[in-house]
Amino acid sequence: SCGPRRVLRHNPTSMRVFSGIQPTGRKHLGNYIGAIRQYVVSQERAVQAGDEAIFCIVDLHATTVAYDPPVLRERLYDTAAVLLAAGLDPDRCILFRQGDVPEHTELSWLLSAVTAHGDLNRMHQFKEKSAQQRELISAGLFFYPVLMAADVLAYRAGEVPVGDDQRQHIELMRDIAERFNARFGEGLLVVPEGRIPEVGARIMDLQEPTRKMSTTVGTDEGRVYVLDEAKVVEKKIKRAVTDSEDPPRIAFDPEGKPGVSNLLEILAVCRGTRVGEAVASLADARGYGDLKAATADAVNAELGPVRERYAELRADEDALEATLAAGADRAREIAAPVLADVRAAMGVGPAVRQRA
Ligand code: TYM
Repeated sequence: SCGPRRVLRHNPTSMRVFSGIQPTGRKHLGNYIGAIRQYVVSQERAVQAGDEAIFCIVDLHATTVAYDPPVLRERLYDTAAVLLAAGLDPDRCILFRQGDVPEHTELSWLLSAVTAHGDLNRMHQFKEKSAQQRELISAGLFFYPVLMAADVLAYRAGEVPVGDDQRQHIELMRDIAERFNARFGEGLLVVPEGRIPEVGARIMDLQEPTRKMSTTVGTDEGRVYVLDEAKVVEKKIKRAVTDSEDPPRIAFDPEGKPGVSNLLEILAVCRGTRVGEAVASLADARGYGDLKAATADAVNAELGPVRERYAELRADEDALEATLAAGADRAREIAAPVLADVRAAMGVGPAVRQRA
């Protein structure tokens, strides 16, 4: 690139989309409904707006808790294949592996200069995850939200599709971007906004519907995996905890009826309707069994085609590698000039010579 870098050239209401997903565990219905489905919608919106949608499988974040290196690689391919099977299209978005783009780690260090230690100390996810660690609580776990901020800010993304549990991390990355701009130059970084779906942002555990569905807490009975066979999905949903109201009442009331409301949200999202319509469709139901049967059918209708495409995609690791490598090249093309701006503004490295 040539000429002086004019930091104010960036559109503050950027339609550029960025999101990240961990390659740990098997992806569950919470990940699918809260995030993966939204990625596909965002991909189309970004294409329409003539901007990029960028999706990153965050292998570096996965090293912040105990893990097995060969398993990490396997899970990375699993996750890439799930994302592609769900509808991410390398011709319409950028899909890559975090560790392939060193701009993320460099920016995370640079951003640490404007990140308050006290803010990191207040992160719920750090508190929860560090409480679960039986051995080392790594410094990486503490620093996790700064790397996450760097993921997004390196692309000057405006929109970050995530589930409800990432709210606090989004707030922090906004604070970091604002503090960075105030300190080093207005408009240098884009202050991103979270895009959290109205319905399905917090899918609950089927066995403990007052807790979110999670890879690390709860049992397999409480989570539906994207790759569970249809019969398994049916069994898990049929055994979902509801309530003992007598007579049974199918109503949306997350506080009073968390189990029933969770199933209604899942049903509505998978059918592509509103929760009210899902409730109305069950007006003649004789009990929660009908709600469960309808939900299991809707989930299998949604996930069936994903499972089929997954099997084909996962089988070809070379093709997955090629997709990720091409994505990383495109990602670096966007992130490298942002890093150059950040380094220059911070006085890191040699002065950038500006041409007349
Ligand atoms: P991760 O991998 O834990 O989860 C991926 C996405 O799934 C959403 N999610 C849920 N949504 C609804 N109901 C649930 N029960 C549920 N459980 C998980 C999460 O909100 C998330 O959107 N820190 C991130 C990864 C990340 C990232 C980023 C995200 C790294 N860098 C930059 C956005 C931007 C995480 O651990 O997601």
